[in-house]
Amino acid sequence: MSDGKREQWSSRLVFILAATGSAVGLGNIWKFPYITGENGGGAFVLIYLLCIASIGLPIMMAEIMLGRRGREDPVSTMKKLAKESGHSSAWGILGWLGVIAGFLILSYYSVIAGWAMAYVPKMASATFSGLNATQVDTVFSELVSNPMLLIFWHSLFLFLTMTIVAKGVRGGLEKAVTYLMPMLFILLIILIFYAMDTGYFMQGVHYLFNPDFSKISTDGVLSAMGHAFFTLSLGMGAIMVYGSYLPNKTSIAQASIAVAFMDTLVALLAGMIIFPIVFANSLETGAGPGLIFKTLPLAFGNMNYGTLFGTLFFVLLVFAAWTSSISLIEPAVTWVIKTFKISRLKASIITGFLVWLMGLMTVFSFNLASDFTISSVISTTHGEFVILKNATAFDLLDYLTSNIMLPLGGLMIAIYAGWLMKSQYSRAELDISIFWYRLWLFLVRYIAPVMVIVVFLNAMGIIAFIRTVVEA
Ligand code: TRP
Repeated sequence: MSDGKREQWSSRLVFILAATGSAVGLGNIWKFPYITGENGGGAFVLIYLLCIASIGLPIMMAEIMLGRRGREDPVSTMKKLAKESGHSSAWGILGWLGVIAGFLILSYYSVIAGWAMAYVPKMASATFSGLNATQVDTVFSELVSNPMLLIFWHSLFLFLTMTIVAKGVRGGLEKAVTYLMPMLFILLIILIFYAMDTGYFMQGVHYLFNPDFSKISTDGVLSAMGHAFFTLSLGMGAIMVYGSYLPNKTSIAQASIAVAFMDTLVALLAGMIIFPIVFANSLETGAGPGLIFKTLPLAFGNMNYGTLFGTLFFVLLVFAAWTSSISLIEPAVTWVIKTFKISRLKASIITGFLVWLMGLMTVFSFNLASDFTISSVISTTHGEFVILKNATAFDLLDYLTSNIMLPLGGLMIAIYAGWLMKSQYSRAELDISIFWYRLWLFLVRYIAPVMVIVVFLNAMGIIAFIRTVVEA
C-alpha cells in the first residue's frame, strides 16, 4: 500500500484499531506475565506503568507525528524530515535500525505465535481436561522439545502474516481488528471470573500491585522500560508507518492515549488472570516463556465449557499476534520494495523467507541448542551486575531487541522530535493546546531521553562503576 499513491485509513477509529492491533499481542498476554514473574511482581509492574506514561506515551505521539509528516517508509521519512528541518540525512539510520529490529523481533515472535497456534487443536480436542499442573507442564515440554513441530507452526504463522502483508495491510487488517479485538477482550473478562473463583485472586492482585523494591534489579528496570517500548510497538518505525496513513485532521494525542490505555488494560487483565492460577496451583511465578502455556490450560481444563473457551482463546491470541506481526515486518517490506524496486509480492516472499530462516535460531534454542548459552556479568565493589545469565539464542535476541534496540530507537525519536524538528512543525502536527504541547515537549526533550540513558547506564553497570571509582 505504500507503493503508488498513498492510501489513508478510512477513519480515526480504524487507525486506533490498527494501532491497538499492533500494540496488543503476545507482548501483553504472553510476555508481560512471564517477565513480571521473573522480576518479582509489583515493583516491576509499577516501573513498567511509569515508563508507559512518561516515556511511552510522549514517544508514541512523536513517532506517529513523524510518520504522518513524512508519509513514507521509516528510512525515507527520516531522511525527508531531516532535510526539511536542515539536518543530516544520517537520520535515515533511525529508520534502518527499526527495519532490522522489526525483522529480528518477528523471527522469534513467529515461533511463539506458533506455540499459540499449536495449542488450538490441543484445546479443541480437550487434551487438557482434568489434567493437573505436572501433566500440563509435560504437554508444553513435549511441544517445545520437538523442533520439527515448532518449525511447522512457525512456518504456518509466518505464511499467514506474509500473505496479509503481500496483499497490502489495510484490507484484511481493518476487519480483523474491528471484530476480533473486542472478542479477545470479552474472553479475558470471562477468564477474570475464573481467576476470582480460584480463591487466590487477591494473592495475585497483591503480587502485581504491591511493589517490593528489594526484588528488582537494575536489569529488571531495563526490562520494564524495554517492555514499555515493546508492548506499545514503539521505537522501530511500526507506528511511524501506521502514522503515515493517518489523515491530517486526526488528533494524534487522543489516538495515542486510547491505544496506550487499551494496551495496558489488556496486559493488567492478563496478569490478574495468570497469577491467581499460578498461586492456586503452587506453580512458579518465574517459569519463563512457558508461563501462560502452563497456567491457562489448567484453567480451561478445569472449567465449564473449557474446551470451547480454551479453543476460542488461543484462536484469538493467534489473531492478536497476527495483527502485531504484520506491523513488525511492514517497515522492512516497504523498505525492500522501495530500495530494490520490486513488487510487494516479491518483497514479501524474500523478507518472509529471511525471517523464517532467522526464526530457526529461536526454534533450536528451546531444544537442540538449549545448552548453548552465554552469560555476561560485571563485578564491581558495589556488587555483581548480571547483564545476561545463561542466555539462549532466543533470550539474546529478545534482550538485544527489546532492551537495547527499541529504547535506542525511541531515544532517537525523542531527540529528533523534541530538539531537532522545528517546533512550528511539531505544533502544527500535534495541534493541541499550548499547555499540553509544552508538557509533551518537556517529556520528549528531557524526561524520556534522560530516563532511557540513565536506565541504560545503570543496567550496564556503568553507574556503579563510576561510583566505585569516585569513592575509591
Ligand atoms: N506490541 C506487540 C506486542 O505487544 C509487538 C509488536 C508489534 C512490536 N509491532 C512492534 C514490538 C513494533 C516492537 C515494535 O505483542
